[in-house]
Amino acid sequence: MRKCAHVVIWGAHAPSRAALGALAKRIFVARSCPKLFGEGAEKGTRGACAPRNYGRTLYVFVSIFCVMVLGCRPDMANQPKAKPLSESDFFSNQANARPIPPHTVERGGARENTAFDTGLTNGTYITQLPVKLTPELLARGRERFDVMCAECHDRTGSGNGMVVQRGFPQPPSYHVPRLRNAPIGHFFDVITNGYGVMYSYATRVDPEDRWAIAAYIRALQLSHNMKASELTPAEQQKLGNEQ
Ligand code: HEC
Repeated sequence: MRKCAHVVIWGAHAPSRAALGALAKRIFVARSCPKLFGEGAEKGTRGACAPRNYGRTLYVFVSIFCVMVLGCRPDMANQPKAKPLSESDFFSNQANARPIPPHTVERGGARENTAFDTGLTNGTYITQLPVKLTPELLARGRERFDVMCAECHDRTGSGNGMVVQRGFPQPPSYHVPRLRNAPIGHFFDVITNGYGVMYSYATRVDPEDRWAIAAYIRALQLSHNMKASELTPAEQQKLGNEQ
């Protein structure tokens, strides 16, 4: 239909300025009043609907224009401001990024050297979990362990994760007697400070999650070395049902 409209509009004339103006007007009319150039329409006829629709289109365009003009005040974009890492002619070290004042502690980041923050009391690893042991804590520990640690330690903790299978040094299994007997504070400390070739996870795992992971490692160790006969009759029955 639009093609047909063009034929009607152009006719045999070369476009002059006035003709282009008229064309634009006709396109408006053609768009807003399809009846005009539809079947049986006569060349140049303006349908009764054209002026009404034309006015509405104009109204929409004027509204959009007003909104754009109002929204285009550049004052805020152009105001004087210091962009991070750009040069400054105000500060003596000529850097806009300001150094963090000494002893600044991020919100919620105060570490007061407690057992919770270090896994130690008086320089000795703690043997009790410093947070409440709940099913939610273990579930969180499992989820974090599978994300952060299993790539090397594998999901069972035996130390044969995918990264190790691709050549990274193999960690010891969590199920060797030395680690089964290690105090829980040791696991927290390894995550915080790294151990041998294993790097620190302090920046990637918060203390809350480190304890959750440490608790989950303990659960892995227990699950690996538990005899079915050590379970209560109810637990044995549950195990039987699951098998
Ligand atoms: C990139 C591989 C890798 C990842 C990821 C990793 N580890 Fe390790 N981990 C190792 C290696 C390798 C060792 C052995 C280091 C050594 O003895 O030099 C190790 C050792 C350990 C040990 C034993 C320390 C000891 O006393 O022998 C523990 C516990 C441990 N990792 C916990 C974790 C926990 C928890 C995570 C997750 C937060 C984690 N690791 C993530 C590679 C990794």
